Amino acid sequence: MPHGTLRAWVVGVVHVVQHPLVQAELTGLRCRSCPGPEFRQRLRRIAALMVPAVTADFETKVISCETPLEVTSGVEMTRRVILTPILRAGLGFLDGFFDLLPDAAIAHIGLARNEETLQPEPYYLKTPPTLADSEVIVIDPMLATGGSAVEAVKRLVELGATRLRYACLVASPEGIATFEDAWPEVPIFTAAIDRGLNDRGYILPGLGDAGDRLFGTA
Ligand code: URA
Repeated sequence: MPHGTLRAWVVGVVHVVQHPLVQAELTGLRCRSCPGPEFRQRLRRIAALMVPAVTADFETKVISCETPLEVTSGVEMTRRVILTPILRAGLGFLDGFFDLLPDAAIAHIGLARNEETLQPEPYYLKTPPTLADSEVIVIDPMLATGGSAVEAVKRLVELGATRLRYACLVASPEGIATFEDAWPEVPIFTAAIDRGLNDRGYILPGLGDAGDRLFGTA
C-alpha cells in the first residue's frame, strides 16, 4: 500500500484503487437503474477519490511560506499536471480530477477508427506546449480493447510527453495486456479489473456504454 488512507493494490504496473468509497460509488454507477445525473456525479466523485492514488509519487519541492505570524516552509508540486481526457467519455471523468488539480492544463484527444486500417486515428488533438516538462494523466473511464489508450499515449509521446500515467474506472484484462505490451512503463490506475470483453468489445460485467450513459445518447 503506497499511501495511508487511500489504498491501492499494485498488480504489475496496474494500481487498483480499492478504497471502500470508490468501490461503493462504482457499484451504484454500474446499475442500469442509475439515472444520468447520478451517473455523472458518481463518476466525478470516483475520479476525485482516485486522485491521491494516481498522484501519490508526484515530486514536490520545498518552498518558504509566510503565515500571518511567521515564515515557515512547505512544498509545491515540481511539475505542472496535464489532464488528457480521451473524447468523449473521458470528459465525464475529467471534472473530478480537475476539482483536486485545479492548476492542471487540459489536453484533448478525439480518436476515430480508420475504416481501412481499422486503427484509431486522432480527429482532434490539442495539447499545451509544456508536454515534455509535465506529468501527463490520460483519462478515460473504460479501458476496453486498449486500442484508443495505446494510440493516445503514442500521440502524446510523439509530441514530447515523457511522464505519463493512465487512469480509468473499469479495465478489462485484454485492454491491460494490450496497453502493457505497448507501454510497459506507463502505469495504469483503475477502480476495477472486470472479467473480460464480449464480442462487441464491451466490458463484462462493466457498466454499458459510458459515453451514452454520461451524455444521454443511448
Ligand atoms: N466503452 C464503453 O463505454 N463501455 C465498454 O464496456 C467498452 C468500451
